[in-house]
Amino acid sequence: MISQVSSAAVIGLDAQPIKVEVDLSNGLPSFTIVGLPDKAVEEAKERVRSAIKNSGAEFPQKRITVNLAPADIRKEGPSYDLPIAVGILLASEQVNFDPSKVIFTGELSLNGDLRQTNGILPVAIMTKERNFEELYIPQENADEAAIAGEINIYPTRSLRDIIWHLRGEKSIEKYQCLNMDNIFEEEIPFEVDMNQIKGQEHAKRALTIAAAGGHNVSMSGPPGSGKTLLAKAFASILPQMSSNEAIEVTKIYSVAGLLTKDNPIIMNRPVRTPHHTASDIALIGGGKWPKPGEISLAHRGVLFLDEFPEFPRSVLEVLRQPLEDNIITISRAAGSLTFPAKFILVTAQNPCPCGYLNDPVKTCSCSQNQIAKYNKKISGPLLDRIDLHIEVPRLKFEKLESDSSLESSKEIKEKVEKARQTQRKRFENSKTLTNSEMSLPEIKKYCSLDEKSKELIRQAVNQLNLSARTYHKILKIARTIADLANSGDIQTEHLAEALQYRFKKEH
Ligand SMILES: Nc1ncnc2c1ncn2[C@@H]1O[C@H](COP(=O)(O)OP(=O)(O)O)[C@@H](O)[C@H]1O
Ligand SMILES: [Mg+2]
Repeated sequence: MISQVSSAAVIGLDAQPIKVEVDLSNGLPSFTIVGLPDKAVEEAKERVRSAIKNSGAEFPQKRITVNLAPADIRKEGPSYDLPIAVGILLASEQVNFDPSKVIFTGELSLNGDLRQTNGILPVAIMTKERNFEELYIPQENADEAAIAGEINIYPTRSLRDIIWHLRGEKSIEKYQCLNMDNIFEEEIPFEVDMNQIKGQEHAKRALTIAAAGGHNVSMSGPPGSGKTLLAKAFASILPQMSSNEAIEVTKIYSVAGLLTKDNPIIMNRPVRTPHHTASDIALIGGGKWPKPGEISLAHRGVLFLDEFPEFPRSVLEVLRQPLEDNIITISRAAGSLTFPAKFILVTAQNPCPCGYLNDPVKTCSCSQNQIAKYNKKISGPLLDRIDLHIEVPRLKFEKLESDSSLESSKEIKEKVEKARQTQRKRFENSKTLTNSEMSLPEIKKYCSLDEKSKELIRQAVNQLNLSARTYHKILKIARTIADLANSGDIQTEHLAEALQYRFKKEH
């Protein structure tokens, strides 16, 4: 007696079909799983045995062999519980159905209930792409799976439900697919609005440019000047995600196990704010069953590193590669994995350990040595990858108290969306999405300067000893500033403004 049912393995962010073959033969009762299973899959034996018994079915007293094929893909996690249980029930003829176009996935608890399982969205997408017809998943994962579109999803509470359903005794109701268009019309409120932040026009302008062109920003200023506040408000001026972007980001959260029943789809650009004591794996990704780290959870959104120099140097250096390539590659024994990691980096730091260097009122208590050591923590190559450098000074009392009306996040966001629209048109036939991602030929094509501007940048490069990378970053920022001004050409004033954001940190 042999059965074969289908399930899926999630590798990185993508799923692949897995065949679960179950053979029942006579002999001493035993239960073996083969086909490169990890420990969690091995433990499935105990869960499956109890779940079947507690679901009103019989666990066969036979020699049970389960083979997970293809054997060269490592099977990780508890999601094979359900297909193994169904395979045993089918092989022992306790249920009867045609398994050829059906996918089962989900973790069982001992009483036979299905638990919320990680990585369901990639499995749902695979179900659709590989032309399977039905997908059985834990009920808690239903909304997440429904994003994949037109597939027959059966959200299931327990193994008992599936047994009844397959025997035709009581059907599980098919899930109504979500209409993505409706979901995207919702307005989502933000924590801090730009109009709550007094003064700091220079910083707000830089953040507007960053949002419009996808540029990285570093903020430096004394404690309490509003750096963290500005970073929080940044989320509210970012352009809306497209539905494709939302699916891409939701996939990452699905694999990381961070979707909840109340929040099954990530629709706002994510803002991740890891603490500087977070481990390398938490930030970069990895682990025994490789999970995306903070830099991937920030994909299409913002990675905010507050107290930037406090992060261990080892972590900061690993950031260099994803900042350049927009992906992170994690090496592991069973081959390497890549996760996407395209984010806007926003950093905040004090100018020195005590925070009051150059402050007009308070005196700084740090020694030259301490200041040098503090700034040296962030290497040149990393600084080079940050496009906009701004100072956030402490506000005078009058500014804080003034109640002149300020531009709201909604108004700023409109400008940002318009500049993004220009970029979408510009890069219609290219993989590039924003000015910050322009390749060298694209920079050449879209960032031409007139004679006056050329002279200006020549002087800047020579006097400030700018690197080639910095030179190109300045051109990209100038392009974004011109886009915000709705100007086809980069004009000298645009370039001059772009140069301002480089001055402070280049010595
Ligand atoms: N420009 C500002 N406008 C209004 N409130 C501000 C401003 N700057 C700072 N604050 C107030 O000061 C608090 C501390 O600011 P915060 O952003 O945490 O400073 P930092 O991160 O620079 O140390 C904020 O929660 C806010 O109440
Ligand atoms: Mg702060």
